[in-house]
Amino acid sequence: MQLTPQQQALLDGAQGETMAKVVKTLVMYGDTFGAQRMVPVTSEYGHTVISFGLAVMKPVYDLYDRLIEAGLTSGQKFTADPRPLDKNVPTSLLEDIVFRKIMYTQQARYEEQLRKLGITADNGYTCTCYLEQVGNQPRKGDILSWAESSAVVYANSVLGARCNRNSGMLELMGSIAGFVPEFGLLTDEGRKAHWLIEVKCQSRPEPQLLGSAIGMKVMEDVPYVRGLDTWLGTELNDENCAYLKDFGAATASNGAVGLYHIENLTPEAREQGEALLHEGYQTYVIDDAELERVKRSYPVIWKDPAARPELCFVGCPHLTLEQLHQWTEKLHDALRQQNRLQVAVPTVFTAAPAVLDAFKDTVEGYKLQSMGVILSYICPLMYMNNPLCKKKTVITNSNKLRTYTSARYYTDAEILDILSGKEGH
Ligand code: F3S
Repeated sequence: MQLTPQQQALLDGAQGETMAKVVKTLVMYGDTFGAQRMVPVTSEYGHTVISFGLAVMKPVYDLYDRLIEAGLTSGQKFTADPRPLDKNVPTSLLEDIVFRKIMYTQQARYEEQLRKLGITADNGYTCTCYLEQVGNQPRKGDILSWAESSAVVYANSVLGARCNRNSGMLELMGSIAGFVPEFGLLTDEGRKAHWLIEVKCQSRPEPQLLGSAIGMKVMEDVPYVRGLDTWLGTELNDENCAYLKDFGAATASNGAVGLYHIENLTPEAREQGEALLHEGYQTYVIDDAELERVKRSYPVIWKDPAARPELCFVGCPHLTLEQLHQWTEKLHDALRQQNRLQVAVPTVFTAAPAVLDAFKDTVEGYKLQSMGVILSYICPLMYMNNPLCKKKTVITNSNKLRTYTSARYYTDAEILDILSGKEGH
């Protein structure tokens, strides 16, 4: 690793022992992946994946105390992943006690630390930090120090920024130091595709299913997707960005994709076309039968697979404003067809606090809530990531939530059938 004189001085302790350790950590990280140098972080804001104050992670918060004591507040302000708790989301008394008295006892301490370290605002907690209402949207070519997998893959693919799939804490260290090791998705070579994906579906594929199929096939490689423009067109409008958000989160969680290219749509694919395909690339053809095969392969780990759902989560990753509007209309129509006024299953829609602020007091916002849908800013995965919730029969349209928890995946159309009482699943 070749450091600049300034970087070397930091490593040698010019700004104290703690900063030297931060830089040493980044150097060791870069060495592990063969980085030759550090490059400046150029985005306006950072983003941290750790948004929760878990009792079992107390040593992490002790370390954050040391950063703060050393005056190492972040060089750039940052947003954070969603909070784990919201009193509006249904919990049993026992769950409540476990969440507040056993699991998340460090939450208040950690949020205070984030304020000192430089979180943008008290409502800066969301995985969709790049949405207009939140305001942490990197520019094309920006170098980032982020770790949240759904945000990293979106920033790389849809916005054309450059970020590796870093880990929690390491991303904050990159923000503090102001530079990150250059390797992988920060390089032109690392952004080339080793897979050509030919989409040959007869209708617009479900984003979370298509992303899952691709993620499980290519794992951490970069896919170049051909044929999706047949269904999405060639414009990165709000609807397509929301599609790509959900598609990307599935590629990143069902596999470990950090960047994808969509022919004729995403910025680098529009500029470079199939020159992005690496020599010797492999090909994966996806048609409707393949998507059905992938969906059938998901294990159902409920004790009773025929049990009625107790809870439904929609919004992992967090919903966009446009998605909230679309769901409101579709749900309203589906309920009316079944002569119902309210959803048949307790349902939580999750979105960024700033998106909820722009939605919940509007006519559409009232309409959705009058159908019994709870609006929340939490991360459903954080909510479910404990032994009590594991036993709950939760359904979701999120392939990320399905992958990490006992939640069962359904397509949007199936979710509408279940919520409207039409069932059949
Ligand atoms: Fe976001 Fe939590 Fe899902 S961070 S992508 S809502 S797992």
